[in-house]
Amino acid sequence: MDTYISQIGVTTGDVILEFSYLIAAIMFVIGLKFMSHPETARKGNIWAAVGMGLAMVTTLFLHRENGQTISLINGMVVVAAIVFGSILGIIIARRVKMTAMPQLVSLFNATGGGASALVALMEYSNPANESALVTLLGLVIGSIAFSGSMIAYGKLDGKVGDIFAKWTTYFNIFMLVVIAAVMVYMLAFDHDMATMTILSYILLVLALIYGVMFVMPIGGADMPVVISLLNSLTGIAAAMAGFIYHNQAMILGGIFVGSAGAILTLLMCKAMNRSLLNVIIGAFGGGGAGVDKEHGAVKEITLSDASVLLAYSQKVVIVPGYGLAVAQAQFVANELVQLLENKGVEVKFAIHPVAGRMPGHMNVLLAEADVPYTKLVEMDDINPDMPNTDVTVIIGANDVVNPAALDDPSSPIYGMPIINAHESKNIIVMKRGMGKGYAGIENFLFFDDKTRMLFGNAKDSLQKLVSEIKEL
Ligand code: TAP
Repeated sequence: MDTYISQIGVTTGDVILEFSYLIAAIMFVIGLKFMSHPETARKGNIWAAVGMGLAMVTTLFLHRENGQTISLINGMVVVAAIVFGSILGIIIARRVKMTAMPQLVSLFNATGGGASALVALMEYSNPANESALVTLLGLVIGSIAFSGSMIAYGKLDGKVGDIFAKWTTYFNIFMLVVIAAVMVYMLAFDHDMATMTILSYILLVLALIYGVMFVMPIGGADMPVVISLLNSLTGIAAAMAGFIYHNQAMILGGIFVGSAGAILTLLMCKAMNRSLLNVIIGAFGGGGAGVDKEHGAVKEITLSDASVLLAYSQKVVIVPGYGLAVAQAQFVANELVQLLENKGVEVKFAIHPVAGRMPGHMNVLLAEADVPYTKLVEMDDINPDMPNTDVTVIIGANDVVNPAALDDPSSPIYGMPIINAHESKNIIVMKRGMGKGYAGIENFLFFDDKTRMLFGNAKDSLQKLVSEIKEL
């Protein structure tokens, strides 16, 4: 075996390296599989991280360039960068608030896209690089992912406003044509080294501008979908960088991220009943479109009435939404559940796929408060049970319980599946006032005869409710 390996110019180290990439790829797949359920998601992250760690270590020790493994100096630079990046990553991840998670994901996307773009920029003029098209695509896609994600981060953090103008669509189409033309010019003709370098920097700047202008007109509220799309682009850019280096682990890792991001983007669009194009050019959530129907006044409920209603019910369903995340009311919500269960009430959480502002937002929040997963019931599974529910408590949710999605074809959310809170016997809504949800439209559930409003910050209201129930 060893003789055969040396005859074909491959060392045992090369074989181990390639094998380690295969193991890493398998670990990525297992990690992804685990990540698809909240209970195993943490384990999934560890599997994928160990796979990535393995690929990094074997590359560092076994990868050969012109027959040579990495020099000690370069090795130390790489290790120093990894240590610095890891420490920074740990500090940021530990400090970030749950509500700022989409911003963090966006920042991480930006770094991934930026790194891939830099690899492509460095390697384009390298005479040993045989994949010019892939390199240019990596440069363009990575740059778009970088600048687009930075703008998405700025918007989510309230640092960058929206530009809604018709001209941006034309400008973006124009930019895409220019980028394609520059790429064709670079690939179709021979250029000397200096020209190649200048052209690659021009392409970099054009792609960065496109990334900014692509995200700029999209409504701030649509950012989670855009972030998922940019995440997909980052993965594709990383895969391109993998092609440049003939590195299977990078190619596979990039493809996994790219396809997972694309699937997630489409799932989010489906759950909102909107097309991707509508998200990109639709400016949904920025305006105040809504149904114009006659409605009466809302009815409020006192804390003592709410506590009696809940404590003497048999079945209670809690629908958490974005407001629960804003108020950080997950812990006290869990306290309420335990209190009611001690009184013999059956309590479940109804989880809508796009409640909150990021995929799995409610699952993560409730897991943080140690709510058992068995209490979290998906929308499709809980809906048939809604007519038998004595009280539905809506905590900071709005669009995901808006019946206009079912019965008003003129509504922008028409067709979006919802949690059928309106079918339950009684409804208590906890929110601060009559503020609208993400879609910016009225919710006639709040005016329903069966609905009572408990106004206030969700955490405060829940705390008061818990004290009131304890008094019973
Ligand atoms: P929303 O429709 O956004 O409604 C949240 C409600 O919470 C608001 O009406 C607000 O009313 C209330 N609220 C805010 N802060 C509060 C606080 N501190 N205490 C109590 N209430 C508070 O939320 P949802 O029902 O979860 O729906 C999610 C929306 O986001 C959907 O339209 C979905 O399509 C969209 N979206 C989700 C995702 C993902 S992946 N989850 C991605 C993109 C878009 P007040 O101001 O009156 O308090």
